[in-house]
Amino acid sequence: MTALIAARGLTRVLPETVPVTLVKDISLEIDPNSFVAITGPSGSGKSSLLYLLGLLDRPTNGTILVEGRDTGPMSEAERARTRLSMIGFVFQFHFLLPEFSARQNVEIPMRKMGRLAPREMRGRAEELLDALGLADHRNKRPDQLSGGQRQRVAVARALANDPPLVLADEPTGSLDSQSSEQVFEILRSLVRERGKTVVAVTHDLDMAARMDRRVHLVDGMLAEAED
Ligand SMILES: Nc1ncnc2c1ncn2[C@@H]1O[C@H](COP(=O)(O)OP(=O)(O)OP(=O)(O)O)[C@@H](O)[C@H]1O
Ligand SMILES: [Mg+2]
Repeated sequence: MTALIAARGLTRVLPETVPVTLVKDISLEIDPNSFVAITGPSGSGKSSLLYLLGLLDRPTNGTILVEGRDTGPMSEAERARTRLSMIGFVFQFHFLLPEFSARQNVEIPMRKMGRLAPREMRGRAEELLDALGLADHRNKRPDQLSGGQRQRVAVARALANDPPLVLADEPTGSLDSQSSEQVFEILRSLVRERGKTVVAVTHDLDMAARMDRRVHLVDGMLAEAED
């Protein structure tokens, strides 16, 4: 089976006066339709790894393959296209645009992709919001929503272009336990019911235990034991 996304010897060093190594020689393969946790202490490189996997940052050494295609030689435009069609992002803080409604926020990745007519984008955004229990909140701005509702809008936005892979950096990190559980269940259902692959950084070891696989980082490196 071709990995959905694979890292080969990924190293990222920031070229400071004293160089900072964010991740070091990480190789891993993420199977399609899996629910993977990235765990590790604060500063262990979890976000850095997610940024590299999401093609938001470029490695100093090593490479990332998306469905077997090496992204190293790709131009920025090609990487951006790959990112837009293949990867959705959910961050700890939702990063929704404050002046736009929930629906408009969900339409943004579709606008960037430029494949759908405005009416189709609107319809798809509404369907996604409805599916995430936000039918009554489509026209609200982020500041009119609760934290959990905002994070569900962020999930809808991540799904806008129907990417096979969703990368989430502590998606429940700023939520109360009930909203956390709800967002977790949504991410799990993306894998179980919609065939997506979800890779989520989490500090919550109970949550990680309920996922298919745990990738543990220590000091920017993969820890030996993984299950
Ligand atoms: N721009 C930067 N300049 C200097 N050091 C950085 C920079 N970005 C990250 N680092 C350092 O790189 C290491 C890895 O950071 P990263 O944010 O990936 O860790 P993390 O595991 O996501 O941590 P957390 O759990 O706190 O979010 C940390 O030691 C961090 O301080
Ligand atoms: Mg982080």
